[in-house]
Amino acid sequence: MILVTGATGTTGSLLVRQLSAAGISFRIMARDRAKAVRAAGEGVEIVEGDFSQPDSLGRALEEVERVYLVSSPNEHGAELEKNMIAACARSGGTKHVVKVSVIGADPNSQFTLLRQHGQIEKYLEDSGLMFTHLRPNSFMQNTLMFTPTIQAQGAFYAPAGEGRVSFIDARDIASVAAVALTETGHENKAYNLTGPEALSYTDVASKISNMTGREVIYVDVPAEAAREGMMQAGLSAWLTDALIEVYGSWRTGAGAEVTDDISRVTKRPAHTFDDFLRNYSGAFTS
Ligand SMILES: NC(=O)c1ccc[n+]([C@@H]2O[C@H](COP(=O)([O-])OP(=O)(O)OC[C@H]3O[C@@H](n4cnc5c(N)ncnc54)[C@H](OP(=O)(O)O)[C@@H]3O)[C@@H](O)[C@H]2O)c1
Repeated sequence: MILVTGATGTTGSLLVRQLSAAGISFRIMARDRAKAVRAAGEGVEIVEGDFSQPDSLGRALEEVERVYLVSSPNEHGAELEKNMIAACARSGGTKHVVKVSVIGADPNSQFTLLRQHGQIEKYLEDSGLMFTHLRPNSFMQNTLMFTPTIQAQGAFYAPAGEGRVSFIDARDIASVAAVALTETGHENKAYNLTGPEALSYTDVASKISNMTGREVIYVDVPAEAAREGMMQAGLSAWLTDALIEVYGSWRTGAGAEVTDDISRVTKRPAHTFDDFLRNYSGAFTS
């Protein structure tokens, strides 16, 4: 049995779709059953569980051999994911955890998100369980958060300068996860998952313009203005600061590494940004 966590989120919901389409049986663990049904549809086995409530995790893990582990980026992320890893190790039956991490994860990183994921990876490696670390770059799907200003003003704003980033389509993360959860040969490996090309936000704006037939521009904004905007949008101070760090690293070119790990694992090419825009065109045009 496979247990999928985070099924109401971006990668988990895409993974659930792919496993269902392939006829692979799995169970979901979710905090909110109704939300999980909306994400996965009727007929999928759902067990309620919460990483912050260790006692709730054992039942979800009954007869489970492999686990897809993902949670939201927040300041308690390490503690929450470690609770789940400890429960997997305690369960006796769980052997392999496929964890969503981040490209550049390192327990000693100067960057908050990379350090947090690096610490969780290390905890998983030391747990005695088999692991597969999925280390994606920034999701193409994050661009969807820009659609309100793209539609209202023909512009989007970020403090990324002209830094190029090998954005990844989250569907490819789900595809790699599906392979790691259902085939052998991916145990105790780490995959650096990127799209096939590194693009600046100016490049992205030009691609959106071409796709929509309407000019869209990218506006590079100072980090302080971006921080204010993110806080106003309801992001926590912790996440805001962590994301500002990531944008700052992009400005130095640190986001541009391109790997072929997706095509090596899935035997299919990674989606391009143009593929993504074609497939999500409604979000940019409606
Ligand atoms: N976005 C990016 O560009 C990017 C890039 C690299 C790495 N990452 C990493 O990817 C991960 C996020 O992946 P994602 O976008 O697929 O997830 P997501 O959309 O942020 O969703 C998070 C999922 O985790 C669940 N969750 C949160 N807290 C939980 C708890 N206490 N107990 C049980 N479930 C809980 C959420 O359930 P609810 O619906 O109940 O909230 C939701 O299903 C983060 O670790 C982030 O650092 C993201």
